[in-house]
Amino acid sequence: MSKVTARACANIALVKYWGKRDSVRNLPAAGSLSLTLAALITETTVEWDASLPRDELVLNDKAAPADSEFLDLIRSMASFDKRARVISENRFPTASGLASSASGFAALALAASRAAGLALPPRELSILARRGSGSAARSIYGGFVRMHAGTQVDGTDAYATPIETTFSDEVRMVISIVGGGVPKTHGSRDAMEHCAATSPLYRGWIDCVPRDLETAEAAIANRDIQAVGELAEANALAMHASAIAARPAIIYWHPTTLALLALIRELRAKGVAAWATMDAGPHVKVLTTVADAPRVANAVSSVDGVTHTMISEAGGPAEVIS
Ligand code: PMV
Repeated sequence: MSKVTARACANIALVKYWGKRDSVRNLPAAGSLSLTLAALITETTVEWDASLPRDELVLNDKAAPADSEFLDLIRSMASFDKRARVISENRFPTASGLASSASGFAALALAASRAAGLALPPRELSILARRGSGSAARSIYGGFVRMHAGTQVDGTDAYATPIETTFSDEVRMVISIVGGGVPKTHGSRDAMEHCAATSPLYRGWIDCVPRDLETAEAAIANRDIQAVGELAEANALAMHASAIAARPAIIYWHPTTLALLALIRELRAKGVAAWATMDAGPHVKVLTTVADAPRVANAVSSVDGVTHTMISEAGGPAEVIS
């Protein structure tokens, strides 16, 4: 098989990955936990071609620099030296500006390895995707997913595993795009290193993650959305607190982000199920129930500065589509 198309969904962390124990092998300093989202899909086609002088990438119909270092990992596994033609499309609503590294590297890992004739089991795929982006390791699976930090220096125990539950069918994520999806100010890789090196709150952040993972897993096992939501919002705020305390500060929020946080508190006071989480950008993602999702989406879309709103259900695992 020389040309393969794979599809993967992005994911949003409920317990964030924010810090590395090894930046060369891209090993996380702590575990993380996420929900894979059906509304955020990347489709990637890879063809290995011995006649190509260099790797080529077309991303959303435009030529872009190919990640040859990542493709080298597959060349070395497959023991060949062919170059790759990669075509990748983010099937996100237009102008959403959502980060796509998780779905992007998960789809690329699957398409590129399969096109190279490698049938990697999910755990190996998760390890491979992690080399591209830490959050991509989680996008190999659907539903709720747990990423393990591992302790091995070679990273063979730093991979994600799915959390076996049907509870993911009962939740929704409302995604509110702030400011039309302008490019982010600090890429997560550099920002994590900067936080670890300069933030007086970084240690406290890393120390709170194992406890938060336990709480989140217990809440998911109990199908308790309030406990999952409260934990997710608190964890996101702790991650951002460590970034805000870095020197100089890394502040991902816009005034609209804070307006959304206030609105979500008001919704909760009225009995609506709604808990916020934010990543390396100003957008706010709201964990809610199937029943409350339309009301949450309606409320967030009326906030000044929110340019796009979508409701997503849990997505499935990365898969080969042709
Ligand atoms: O996978 P990366 O390197 O883009 O880092 C992801 C960082 C966050 O989105 C902020 C948190 C997470 O766990 O997804």
